[in-house]
Amino acid sequence: MKKGEPLEAFESLSHIQDVYKPSKEVVENSYVKDYDSLYEFSIKENQKFWDDVAKDLEWYRHYDKVLYSEPPFYKWFTGGKINIVHNALDRHVNSSRKNKLAIIWEGEDGTGRSYTYLSLHKEVNRMANILKSFGIKKGDTVTIYLPNIPEIAVSMLACAKIGAIHSVVYAGFSATALKDRIMDAGSRLLITSDGGYRGGKIVELKKIADEALSGTPFVKTVIMVRRTGHDVPFDESRDFYYDELMNRPGIASTFKTEEMDSEDPLFILYTSGTTGKPKGILHVHGGYAVGIYITSKYVFNINDNDTYWCAADPGWITGHSYIIYGPLINGATTVMVEGSPYYPTCDRWWKIIEKHAVNIFYTSPTAIRGIMRFGEELPNKHDLSSLKILGSVGEPINPEVWRWYYKHIGKERCPIMDTWWQTESGMFLITPVPSMPLKPGSCGKPFPGIDADIFDEEGNPAPPEKGGYLVIKNPWPSMMRTIYKDEKRYIETYFSKYKNAYLAGDTAKKDKDGYFYVMGRIDDVIKVSGYRLGTAEIESALITHEAVAESAVIGKPHKLKGNSIKAFVVLKPGFEKSESLLENIRENVGHTLGPIAKPDEIEFVDSLPKTRSGKIMRRVLKAREMGLSEGDLSTIEED
Ligand code: WTA
Repeated sequence: MKKGEPLEAFESLSHIQDVYKPSKEVVENSYVKDYDSLYEFSIKENQKFWDDVAKDLEWYRHYDKVLYSEPPFYKWFTGGKINIVHNALDRHVNSSRKNKLAIIWEGEDGTGRSYTYLSLHKEVNRMANILKSFGIKKGDTVTIYLPNIPEIAVSMLACAKIGAIHSVVYAGFSATALKDRIMDAGSRLLITSDGGYRGGKIVELKKIADEALSGTPFVKTVIMVRRTGHDVPFDESRDFYYDELMNRPGIASTFKTEEMDSEDPLFILYTSGTTGKPKGILHVHGGYAVGIYITSKYVFNINDNDTYWCAADPGWITGHSYIIYGPLINGATTVMVEGSPYYPTCDRWWKIIEKHAVNIFYTSPTAIRGIMRFGEELPNKHDLSSLKILGSVGEPINPEVWRWYYKHIGKERCPIMDTWWQTESGMFLITPVPSMPLKPGSCGKPFPGIDADIFDEEGNPAPPEKGGYLVIKNPWPSMMRTIYKDEKRYIETYFSKYKNAYLAGDTAKKDKDGYFYVMGRIDDVIKVSGYRLGTAEIESALITHEAVAESAVIGKPHKLKGNSIKAFVVLKPGFEKSESLLENIRENVGHTLGPIAKPDEIEFVDSLPKTRSGKIMRRVLKAREMGLSEGDLSTIEED
């Protein structure tokens, strides 16, 4: 935290005393029965621990070395040949899992579909052949802009199968965000759909994609999934229907999976940081597969008969790791659900759990807070007895929300896995395992193999109960390898504050029992409803409006969304402050960056507080907004 920043939030958790011990049955059925001894071994013999894990996967060629370090660059399982799709799909088709359900999908319009491992395998193979027919080959990037429908999984898996790098852009982002991400990745092919459903309305993905593509002439091919069937613009020279391609004569349902080096790139996923330019986080086939395989298994205790539902969107890291790759590598049945939890009825999610007898359910604190508003009557109307384990991710969970989730959804039987991790980490880093006693508001302890700590400003470990910077002191297999095309930014962002420790970007504390409590970000990232947004990105979107001269954005604590977005706007001369102008500026952010980035509040101001060098001091705006002391303001100049 910056000097002068308040730490009240830490104090407010100190009174929490309730501890929830797992039942005998939960412990007996856990893969990890004795966390302490496994953890001790995993740190003492770190490479042996990961080597043992990696042996559960199938490699075309066994690796020569577990870890090759050139800090801050790390390579895992070097010399090995693997493909994550071989482990997530191909090998199950040659086993008793062949006819097991791989994906159960629920559309928001009441339609649904499911895939067995065999049928998913065939669909992915056909898609791989189609991509190849368009000239996509190993090392090329493909951008995917799709809603939460099975074709997003098919597209990602097909890319990985041929060795192409997928770059999924969340379908809640708009034209400029999509364009920037296509440009940075240099994709020649885009996979999108005619739309998707959200809250009973159609999200016009193809129209947004067309707008983005007007600035990216190097995209020569667009494959469009027919999801809604409504009329959308179609460019005969560039656009193809997914279903027509799939049914073309000669498109085979077999495909020889590309044998990749462990360190070959698997995907880029853009995430927000301090500057306006999103960071292309790069993950690779080998280490990523190993990390998400074991975290899914140990934390959700996935068994062969389990039906698992992660209610995130595949467009974010949670969806990549824990809707698609993690559960499939473990041979589980993964549930995908399109659209809103509240449409057509507010108990939609509980109906789905009942209908498919979901055993493991993973969502965000924002979703739980939203659902809590309707009271426990709604979940109580449904049979949730299939549930065994619950999960939470994306933002800190308030203890009272944790208790509600535990009582009314888990019926005091199901442990809650509050998983702390990041796009950059690829996998859970700090999390309980089901056999661990739980404390509401705490994300538990470091996952085996992960040496996490809290540092003060100088890099000394902070004593219990003292807040500081969350760091990871050793590398892990599924860590990002770099920021795509920006090694310098990788080093500066994560490895420059401390020597040999990864700076996560969060503030946190540990209690006397070693439980971690994550408080918030140290950079200009805001978590809004669990979505990761950069204040600089929103500011860039604000100034695309003709009336806006300057802007500054801050996050404000919000009861439902965790944080809300507040924007301060200085108008250009000649523009009059008005309600309609304000609404127009707000809508423009939705149009350029995405509806999730629309400011909740916009305030017109005459000037913004700045340092002498002209940097906007968002910290001061935040302190003022929250009625806190403004710290040292001596370097501020009001224009
Ligand atoms: C926050 C999401 C508290 C944190 C997987 C982190 C959390 C950022 C938790 C990464 C949690 C994630 N408790 N905070 N259980 N999980 N965060 O990249 O600030 O979208 O740094 O990855 O979310 O967000 P990202």
